[in-house]
Amino acid sequence: MKTPPCHRLGTQIPVIQTAIGGISCPELAAAGSNAGGLGSIAMTGWGYDGTRDQPNRAAELTSAGIVANVILSHDVRYEMRAILDAPPKVVSFFWGDVAPYTTQVREAGALSMASVGSVEEPLRATEAGGPVRGEVATMALVPAVVDAVEPLPVVAAGSNSDGRGFAGALCRGAEAAWTGTRFLAARAADIHPVYRDRVPAAVASDTSHSRLFDGGWPGATGRVLRNSTVEDRGAAGPPAHGERPGEGQVIARDADGGAVLRYDAVATRSKMQGETEAARSGRGRASVS
Ligand SMILES: Cc1cc2nc3c(=O)[nH]c(=O)nc-3n(C[C@H](O)[C@H](O)[C@H](O)COP(=O)(O)O)c2cc1C
Repeated sequence: MKTPPCHRLGTQIPVIQTAIGGISCPELAAAGSNAGGLGSIAMTGWGYDGTRDQPNRAAELTSAGIVANVILSHDVRYEMRAILDAPPKVVSFFWGDVAPYTTQVREAGALSMASVGSVEEPLRATEAGGPVRGEVATMALVPAVVDAVEPLPVVAAGSNSDGRGFAGALCRGAEAAWTGTRFLAARAADIHPVYRDRVPAAVASDTSHSRLFDGGWPGATGRVLRNSTVEDRGAAGPPAHGERPGEGQVIARDADGGAVLRYDAVATRSKMQGETEAARSGRGRASVS
């Protein structure tokens, strides 16, 4: 099936495999694009060289192009410089003001996408931009954003992981799906087995929505799979940040030996070693691109 964004993006199906920090690696992005959709690489935190290197690795695996994603609450100057030096098909932005970037992206020959969590944000995104914060569920958000930004195409994010969710997004006026959590289980995802194994069987009550894992990303809200860190913190009541059980404790090491602290907003990637069960295992949040 094709919808108008397929013609614009050059895809066979209206599904974008989304950016998932640390986990949507070049191999996963290329697999998404080769499957007829469009795959994404999450670039935040890779600096200039890492950002240049990843699309090149994806380009060796697919000629269909990819989405490069940055999170604007972080300093992404070097990532943006690398992206604009070798533009991907689409640059996607989350959690910040897209206005300073859209002209540069267009002039570089790429398309911009902005993920938003409220009906006000796309209006600012198309005008002056603003901080991103979402509390509205996709079901209500999508039709409101569709009406607010018409005739711009809207891509629905959140709970599109099966045919029912996807059909529901189209019924609400979206023209494509921006799907993340489902692809955590993909073979090509750079994800730790303890995390991957839990994803397919998890139901809504296995998740928790909070600011618990905000180490290195102050104020970040997220939906995560319940694990021992979530349960221990729950048992201790709601202690303030800085006084949570095991605060500051090193629970694991990432592939290059870097310390992972208990409440860090990091991805539980394939080569992480240590108490991986207790590290952040994110699940999708409601937003619209
Ligand atoms: C673990 C995890 C990490 C994510 N990291 C990013 C990211 O780096 N950049 C971004 O724009 N969105 C990020 N997202 C949000 C997804 O791009 C997407 O909006 C969401 O997963 C869609 O909902 P779904 O998971 O129900 O399909 C992340 C989602 C998850 C589950």
